[in-house]
Amino acid sequence: MVEIRMRVNGVMEALDLEPRVSLLDALREHLGLTGTKKGCDQGACGACTVLVDGERINSCLALAVQYDGREITTIEGVGDGERAHPLQSAFVRHDGFQCGYCTSGQICSAIGMLAEHGSGAPSAVTEHLSADTIELSDAEIRERMSGNLCRCGAYNGIVGAIREAASGEAGRDVMEAVR
Ligand code: FES
Ligand code: FES
Repeated sequence: MVEIRMRVNGVMEALDLEPRVSLLDALREHLGLTGTKKGCDQGACGACTVLVDGERINSCLALAVQYDGREITTIEGVGDGERAHPLQSAFVRHDGFQCGYCTSGQICSAIGMLAEHGSGAPSAVTEHLSADTIELSDAEIRERMSGNLCRCGAYNGIVGAIREAASGEAGRDVMEAVR
């Protein structure tokens, strides 16, 4: 067994784990944080997306012991306890889900994606790599979210929610929330 400590949603957690335990299983089975979902368990669907020090990862592909000392945020930690995260509210307004199984991963991924976009990182569909700002078009959103599959096909609502949350007043809230 290996002893590790991680700050999860702002709370320091100590865990004794076998080295083979994935970060996803550590969150779900050892910490009871079942908001993060197991879809494929092999890095293909994005249902298990969480944020590590603000960056999105597939937690099914990560060994928990690799994240000793790191800051993990799951869907349970994206709101402030009183208010939903602006992206969560936007998903509700835009019907960005049906069964909801992919939704935790979609929202965590969108938070990480908006931070990546805000830092100027280009995607595979970015036309002008030297542009000062990259417009967050629907094509950019779809490409940047392409690692998160939705078996219900709620993609139009997901794109609409992210577009709304990233623009206007709500966008300022979102950008504050992803910092
Ligand atoms: S469960 Fe991790 S990518 Fe599918
Ligand atoms: S809402 Fe059902 S898989 Fe996406």
